[in-house]
Amino acid sequence: MNEQAAPMPEFALRLVKWQRQYGRHGLPWQTREPYLVWLSEIMLQQTQVATVLDYYPRFVATFPDVQALAAADEDEILGLWQGLGYYSRARNLHKAAKQVVTEFAGRFPRSRIELQTLCGVGRSTAAAIAAFCFDARETILDGNVKRVLCRLLVLDGDIANKKFEEKLWCTAEALLPQDAADMPAYIQGLMDLGATVCKRSKPVCCVCPMNDMCLARAQDRIAELPRKKTAVMVKNLSLYWLVLRNRDGAVFLHKRPAKGIWGGLWCVPCVDSLAALYELAAQFGLAAEDLNEGAEISHRLTHRHLFMVPFTAQAGGQPIESTAVAGEWVSPDNLAAYGIPKPLHDYLNAVQSSLF
Ligand code: ADE
Repeated sequence: MNEQAAPMPEFALRLVKWQRQYGRHGLPWQTREPYLVWLSEIMLQQTQVATVLDYYPRFVATFPDVQALAAADEDEILGLWQGLGYYSRARNLHKAAKQVVTEFAGRFPRSRIELQTLCGVGRSTAAAIAAFCFDARETILDGNVKRVLCRLLVLDGDIANKKFEEKLWCTAEALLPQDAADMPAYIQGLMDLGATVCKRSKPVCCVCPMNDMCLARAQDRIAELPRKKTAVMVKNLSLYWLVLRNRDGAVFLHKRPAKGIWGGLWCVPCVDSLAALYELAAQFGLAAEDLNEGAEISHRLTHRHLFMVPFTAQAGGQPIESTAVAGEWVSPDNLAAYGIPKPLHDYLNAVQSSLF
């Protein structure tokens, strides 16, 4: 299984030199402090640097160290995460902070293997933390690095294939620098090269430090590599929102279960059929004619295309018959303190501003 890949010392030497001269410097998470690096790496999964720059300082100001994060209320974390998406990252962040406090006496472990035992930390994230903070000779392998390797060495496999991925890990390991002190610049260089030069579309080969050793370039195969993934199946899902306001203008929200879409976030009662919506409304003493149907809202998630129809109504208080929809009446001024799914947040804001 552990296929040997040929070492290529020139790659690391050039990449380190290039990163020091042309790479990204001065990003707020470029430190040797594992808490700050870990937090940034989790935020940067599936999220652009520019977006993370908007959230990261607020998050660090609120939770300056792993102890503060471990002791936090999950809802406060989800509130600060609101809009970044992939909320399981925020819940895992909380769990991992508690792990660091209870299992590692409040200090992040230094090895890639131990870092990988933290919730939400996979091999690549663990390697980034170990390399940036402790000079560990460990490689990352995210989508950008896979693209760089597939082009550099004309590796024409299916990225989703486990065997091919294993081959990429071995290849990436063979490219590591000999000098451990070069690891932070090397890993940052891998990230920078993929993000700013060896881009998916319109790569800028003329400024690439590897252009004379890139096999895809020599064979004019840059545009076709890496081989395209087969398209993911995106399912359509219709949802019906019961948007209830009481006489004070507060909206009824409940905390969704941890599993499933928007797990742990606060949402209006939400069902997947009209029949279920009417049943739900009845629990608040409302009949079909008390409900006002709003315009459909659409929202794309990775594997789902959501179509949501809000039904609004005035309600007196807690549900009349049932405790199945236990929740809270939240006044418009307090909405910011709750982690709310992005489309609902946008909808409530739009409705709010049209009321005044
Ligand atoms: N993407 C993932 N990790 C990153 C980092 N440390 N800097 C810039 N982009 C990244």
